[in-house]
Amino acid sequence: MNEAQKPLSTESYKGVRDFYPDDMAVQNAIFNVWKFVAQKYGYQEYNASLLEPAELYRAKSGEEIVNEQTYTFKDRGDREVTLRPEMTPTVARMIAQKKRELPFPVRWFSIPNLFRYEKPQRGRLREHWQLNVDVFGIKNIQAEVEIISLASDIMRTFGLKDQQYEIRINSRKIMNYLMREVLALDDARAHTLSKLIDRKEKMETTEFRAKAEEILGEDTARFEQILSSKNFEEFANHLPVCEVRDEAVKEVREVLASLEMLGITNVIFDQTLMRGFDYYTGIVFEIFDQNPANRRSLFGGGRYDDLLSIFGQEKVPAVGFGMGDVTIHDVLETYGILPKVGASADIYICPMGQEQFGFAQDIAQTLRDANYRTVVDYSLKKVGDQIKNADKFGIPRVIIIGEEEVKTGKFKVKTLATGETVDATVETVTSLVWDR
Ligand code: HAM
Repeated sequence: MNEAQKPLSTESYKGVRDFYPDDMAVQNAIFNVWKFVAQKYGYQEYNASLLEPAELYRAKSGEEIVNEQTYTFKDRGDREVTLRPEMTPTVARMIAQKKRELPFPVRWFSIPNLFRYEKPQRGRLREHWQLNVDVFGIKNIQAEVEIISLASDIMRTFGLKDQQYEIRINSRKIMNYLMREVLALDDARAHTLSKLIDRKEKMETTEFRAKAEEILGEDTARFEQILSSKNFEEFANHLPVCEVRDEAVKEVREVLASLEMLGITNVIFDQTLMRGFDYYTGIVFEIFDQNPANRRSLFGGGRYDDLLSIFGQEKVPAVGFGMGDVTIHDVLETYGILPKVGASADIYICPMGQEQFGFAQDIAQTLRDANYRTVVDYSLKKVGDQIKNADKFGIPRVIIIGEEEVKTGKFKVKTLATGETVDATVETVTSLVWDR
């Protein structure tokens, strides 16, 4: 066989998924929970194209994402185009474009598919869908409280128990204060140190220390002591008191206290939580499953008050998060609570021969007009095999049509699980009431 005749592979492109109907049903059930909860808080759905000009991500997304993880190519007009790796720059662009017309605060959500050139592994693929929930126009930390409550509500709606996951929060303001003021680092070093803290969990202590020493020199021990604080109060006490520090500390305290008042107590302060994106300016947070099988964060988000400035606009306070479908799927599967896939139809009609097709179609049409999902089997297989097929699709009821049924106009509707039958005609069949 020469190259031209070689059969094509049936594999999908590496790191993306095909959604067969059963997968699609689960995916839709996940999306339905996302939509239901977002709408419960008054968030409106928006969308945009998956193509964006590459420059949109250069300003503030962060080097790793832009240099190593984007799918970027030149279009036929020599313009650099990127398949969106995240939605935040897009939503910021949309808000900036219509800033004068929009009534603030804007509460928006979307479920875009995103593309990142990552090494495919558990919890990380090259294409994923991500619920994005963002609020624009609220300066005070009630925006964070609302956004984190909404995230927690999603977890509960999926049927997860609070003790099964943990909400970790940190403050970019405090971390900036620590790096810039306390450790007196310049922009570049502060940036390198924040990336190092972000990778701390993935490193041996000795390696982390050696890398920290390259940035901090003599201050390394002090930094390590601060970073290893056991809780928020201990961490805050290490930082010299001043206005910036006090304001940032107050914010964290208020978020923790407000969440507790709302009954959300699985929240911890984590000074090592950095988040990869450069645009965050205040509180940042992530949600982690407590089960070690799922090491990846389920949600990530935070405050990003300056992002609109890349469009030459004045600032608009913004807080939001992204939650991926891959990670939540893994978690729901781990706990055995993935949404169940329902049957594809309510009734399956089995004509015994070609002569019965017309009558079968009449019944089917009548049922469909009454909104029963109905399938006719045209295979001409033995009735037993047709019924087996109905069972494979999980369709609960069958109607068998033979010569006799056509002649008399009378047929039986059989419930497969119980074997029970009910007499019917085209006129009466829709008045039978079944669970659907
Ligand atoms: P992120 O932390 O990059 O944040 O992604 C948020 C979530 O998306 C992650 O916690 C994870 O569930 C999922 N996710 C990310 N990358 C992948 C991947 N390669 N495969 C599967 N799932 C993935 C953002 O994207 C921010 N733009 C979120 C945000 C919205 N911040 C403010 N508003």
